[in-house]
Amino acid sequence: MEEDNNTIVTEFVFLGLATSLEMKLLFFAIFLAIYGATMVGNLLIVGLVAYEPLLHVPMYFFLGNLSFLDFCYSSVMAPKMLVGFLSRANTITYTGCISQIFFFHFIGGIKIFLLVIMAYDRYVAIFYPLRYMTIMNRTVCAGVVGASWVGGLVHSIVQVAIIVQLPFCGPSVLDNFYCDVPQVVKLACTNTFLVELLMVSNSGLVTLMCFVVLLISYSFLLAKLRAGSASGYNKAISTCASHIAVVTLVFGPCVYIYLRPFCSFPMDKAVSVLYTVVTPVLNPFIYTLRNRDFKMALEKLMRQKMKSTP
Ligand SMILES: *[C@@H]1O[C@H](CO)[C@@H](O)[C@H](O)[C@H]1NC(C)=O
Repeated sequence: MEEDNNTIVTEFVFLGLATSLEMKLLFFAIFLAIYGATMVGNLLIVGLVAYEPLLHVPMYFFLGNLSFLDFCYSSVMAPKMLVGFLSRANTITYTGCISQIFFFHFIGGIKIFLLVIMAYDRYVAIFYPLRYMTIMNRTVCAGVVGASWVGGLVHSIVQVAIIVQLPFCGPSVLDNFYCDVPQVVKLACTNTFLVELLMVSNSGLVTLMCFVVLLISYSFLLAKLRAGSASGYNKAISTCASHIAVVTLVFGPCVYIYLRPFCSFPMDKAVSVLYTVVTPVLNPFIYTLRNRDFKMALEKLMRQKMKSTP
């Protein structure tokens, strides 16, 4: 391969979501509001889980972790995206782009492993209710959370290690509003077929397999719940329903984005917005609005706040 230092790409240009100034300002306002809501909602959940003894059970620890990850996730994406709406040249440096991919896949990977763990947690809670607290004890919880971080890290390092070896000699225009593997790999000036295959299996197949396993598991759980109408039946059903909603919101776009050849389709940007902007803000609402324990914790917090302000 010939190396030509003059044409090495040091910067990528985002085409972004909007072209006209009005649209950019409109998107800026909308996305700023969503980012604000994402931060407030998710940090509220993290705080409630940390300080409210009512929520000191494994399921809520995992939800707290998920919220923390959503908060980090949008903080990796949103500031750059928001600045992009306001600047004339929406660019990102090569290093910035690679870091974005790293964190994007690191956090996304943890989230996916965490969702699998949460399904297992529900499985234990529903099939072995009496032994739940001994099976999911503190050590096990901390262990599986740690394992999901390691899993996310390994997944992300593999992605980045492949991408940094690709030569980029232009063009440098990404038809997206953040750096992600499919668009970046397409810009490499080499035959990327093998790389794409590897990426599809590392991201696409892994997520598809997890998704299928999760959907089957939740179907079994729902079937089991329907069979025995024990007390707490409605609560268990609504917990499972919100888990299924979140799993679908996370995995659906993920499978769409990664499990296919790296070419663009008209729906791509809409799905990317759903995946990076909308999903993180929806998680807290799905849980807090549906969950009685969270509502109680929130009410308690409000009452304490009212008392402390004269
Ligand atoms: C994440 O999970 C661990 C282990 O269960 C727990 O100790 C920790 O409090 C959780 N973190 C958050 C932010 O909820």
